[in-house]
Amino acid sequence: MAKKFVHILAARPNFIKAAPVIKELFLRRAKNVIIHTNQHYDYKMSKIFFQDLNIPEPDYHLGVKSGTHAYQTGEALIKIEKILLQTSPDAVIVYGDVNSTLAGALAASKLHIPLYHVESGCRSFDMTMPEEVNRILTDNVSDLLFCTEQSACKNLEEKKFDPNKIKLVGNTAIDSLYPIKDLIFNKKPLLEGKFYLSTLHRPFNVDDPLILNKILTKLNKFDLPVIIPTHPRLEKNLTNSYPNISFIAPLGYIDFINLIFHSSGVISDSGGVQCETCYFRKPLLTLRPTTEHLITLNYGNRLVQNIDTLSPKLFKPKTYNKTPLEWDGKSSQRIVNEILK
Ligand code: UD1
Ligand code: UDP
Repeated sequence: MAKKFVHILAARPNFIKAAPVIKELFLRRAKNVIIHTNQHYDYKMSKIFFQDLNIPEPDYHLGVKSGTHAYQTGEALIKIEKILLQTSPDAVIVYGDVNSTLAGALAASKLHIPLYHVESGCRSFDMTMPEEVNRILTDNVSDLLFCTEQSACKNLEEKKFDPNKIKLVGNTAIDSLYPIKDLIFNKKPLLEGKFYLSTLHRPFNVDDPLILNKILTKLNKFDLPVIIPTHPRLEKNLTNSYPNISFIAPLGYIDFINLIFHSSGVISDSGGVQCETCYFRKPLLTLRPTTEHLITLNYGNRLVQNIDTLSPKLFKPKTYNKTPLEWDGKSSQRIVNEILK
C-alpha cells in the first residue's frame, strides 16, 4: 500500500522548502497529506506560493493565523494532533524553524509517529531568536535529520545526535529554484534600471522604531534605488518615508527570484534569501550577527552587525565559486530515497 506522509506547512519559507519534497513523493506514488496551519494567510504570503510552486491545495486549513508564540504553537499543536489521530500517517515531515514546525514535531513525537525534519542542524547560536528554540527542540524529537550543509551535520554531531539519523542531503529551497530558472533567465527584468533589493522582517530589526529607522536611513543613502517587498511585520512598523526606498507589496516567489537575479545586490535579514542570493552569486549584506547558513559566507554573503557601518562599500566582490553539491537541485530526491528506504 502507498505510504502516507503528513506535511506541516505554515509560513512562506515552509512552502518553498516543502514544494519539491511533496512533488518527489508524489512522483514515487506516495500519498501526501498537507496541513496548512495558516500562520501566514494573506494571499501574497500564502496562496501565491502554492500557485507559483505548484503545491496541491492543502487537505486541511487550521486557521491559526497571528498571535503570541504560545498561542500560535499551542493552537497548532492541538489541531495537528487531532488530524494525526484521524489520518494515521506513516510519518510526519516538518520544515525549517517556524512555530508550526515545533507544533508538528511535538504532536507527532508524542503520538509515536516517525518524524522527519527538513533543514535540520542549522544553528544561529542565538537563543533570543524564536527560530533557534524551534530548531533545537524539533531536532531533539526527530527520527531523521535532513541537513542542508556539512556545518549543520557538524552541529548535530557535536551534540551527540545518533549519527545514523543525520543525513546530509542539501537544500530543498535551492531545488525550488531549478524549475523556474529558465523562466527567470529568459524573462525580462521585472524592473527597469539598476537597483538593490532588500527584505527585513526579523523582530530585532523591525520591531524597535529607532533601530528600524536607523537601518532605513542608511539604505536611503545607498547609491542605487532600494526596492523593499514589504513583509507585514515591517509594514506594521513603518512610520516615515525614505525617497530612495520603494516599499512595495510582498512578491510571489517567481517575481521575487526575478528581482534577486536582476538586482545589483541584496540587503536582508532573511534565512532563505541568503541561500537564494548566494546561489545566483549576488553580493549580499545580511543584517544579523550570525548565520545558520555558513556555506553562504563563501558565496558573497557578509554579516553586518553594526548598522552604523552599513553601506554599499561592504558588498563583497562577486564570487565565481563552483556550485556546491548541496545546491545541485537534487536534495528532495535524496530525502525521498532515505524516507522510502
Ligand atoms: C514568521 C516566522 C519566522 C519566519 C517568517 C517568514 C516564527 C516564530 N516566525 O515570522 O521564523 O522567518 O515567518 O516570513 O514562526 N501578518 C499578516 N499577514 C500574514 C502573516 C502575518 O498581516 O499573512 C502579520 C501579523 O500582524 C503578524 C505579523 O505579521 O502578527 C507577524 O507574523 P508571524 O507569523 O507571527 O511572524 P513572522 O514575523 O511572519
Ligand atoms: N520571498 C518572496 N517574496 C517576498 C519576500 C520573500 O517570495 O516578497 C521568498 C524568498 O524566496 C525567501 C522566502 O520567501 O527565501 C522566505 O521568506 P522570509 O525571508 O520571509 O523567511 P525566512 O527565510 O527568513 O524564514
